Amino acid sequence: MNKKRQQHQMENFKIDLTKNQKSSDFSIMGKIHDYHEMIREHEKRGLNVLLKSPMTSANAREVVVKERNSGKEIKTLMFGSNNYLGAITHPYVIAKTLEATQKYGIGSGGVPILAGTTKYHTDLEKKLSELTGFEDTMLFSSGFTANLGIILGIIRPQNLIIQDKLNHASLIDGALMSGAKMVRYRHNDMKALEKLLASNQEEYPNGMIVITDGVFSMDGDIANIPKILELTQKYNAILLIDEAHATGVIGEKGAGTLSYYGITQRDNIIVSGTLSKALGSIGGYISASKEIIDYLRIYARSNLYSTSLPPSVCASAFAAIEMMQTTDALSKQQKNAAYMVQKLRENGYNTLNTVTSVIPIIVGDEYKLTQMSKDLLDRGIYVSCIFPPAVPKNTARIRVNMNPLVTEEDIDYFIEQLNEIFQIYQLDRFVKV
Ligand SMILES: Cc1ncc(COP(=O)(O)O)c(C=O)c1O
Repeated sequence: MNKKRQQHQMENFKIDLTKNQKSSDFSIMGKIHDYHEMIREHEKRGLNVLLKSPMTSANAREVVVKERNSGKEIKTLMFGSNNYLGAITHPYVIAKTLEATQKYGIGSGGVPILAGTTKYHTDLEKKLSELTGFEDTMLFSSGFTANLGIILGIIRPQNLIIQDKLNHASLIDGALMSGAKMVRYRHNDMKALEKLLASNQEEYPNGMIVITDGVFSMDGDIANIPKILELTQKYNAILLIDEAHATGVIGEKGAGTLSYYGITQRDNIIVSGTLSKALGSIGGYISASKEIIDYLRIYARSNLYSTSLPPSVCASAFAAIEMMQTTDALSKQQKNAAYMVQKLRENGYNTLNTVTSVIPIIVGDEYKLTQMSKDLLDRGIYVSCIFPPAVPKNTARIRVNMNPLVTEEDIDYFIEQLNEIFQIYQLDRFVKV
């Protein structure tokens, strides 16, 4: 593509996912029309940020993508999937999934409490309890609904919810739906957290919950759980940790954030997690004391009133945990992540404070990132391009997630292409935020 055309596009079009909510037209269809106007612009320019071109191969090291407009198949290296352990295509995991499908069929047939619980479900709950170190675990149809389930299950409007500003959307939505007051502290700012706890202690005695991602999904840094735990104990608050990007990424044999810090106590702590990232398939869970889980089995409505996972999905997650604990998939992933971060930093990119396999590369300029996402795909690189409101304003970024399947040569190729693209778009490599 010639430079002049690129420049023209940059000046005229960017992805703006916040506009939809800010539409000045308050008719119900108005904001939908606004959205389609943006999509039309998107389509005119052949961009592929919002409407994805489907993959025509498994989500593995290499992924074939069928370009929506041209129908052309592009072979890409996968740097954008949450498949942190390569579980999606692992032969052992697939074999166990097929075995369960052959034995139990394709679905569970009911909500958990009515005809929807098989031995595959109870075995997986037990396995997850062992992994997380809690007394009990319950399953949900996704990590998102697990977070809604726990927050709406235990929080009442008279409680106070305190959250890190960079927490996942599901935690924010759960808090909003609960009707409780929500306050947020600056990302990982422990002084700000203590201030909030101290100033609200009197008004909410035993009624505060602090919620944080374990590994932050867009930044790749890790919550300061030892300090947060010290504070929640001091001020009698409950701590909820979302382990979506921590399981299979940090901790002893992928056991997550508490294990990473060597924390063995579990009092007044609850964790939520997903089966959809490192464990490769779909579903979510909550681990906590038996007292809390027994209660949630009735009061977490996104569990009680929703059909349980297919048995085969439980078998997939169970096998993926076994694979994680018995192979070198995790150490390979971590080695690749260390190599990628080292190379990116050597080449001058701003990768924030990541210490995990979630690696941000700050671009900042939403106009340029909108264009770049297509160029990266054309060059055979599959990454996630992340725009506000998923991340704060001016911090639009490329997000890379590492897996054990790519090689050092693949990473070198990625860096080479990125350098060229940053040059074409005349972007400083170190974009300050
Ligand atoms: C931190 C965090 N929590 C929860 C979720 C939701 O998990 P799931 O995709 O299983 O619904 C995600 C997924 O994007 C996430 O990043």
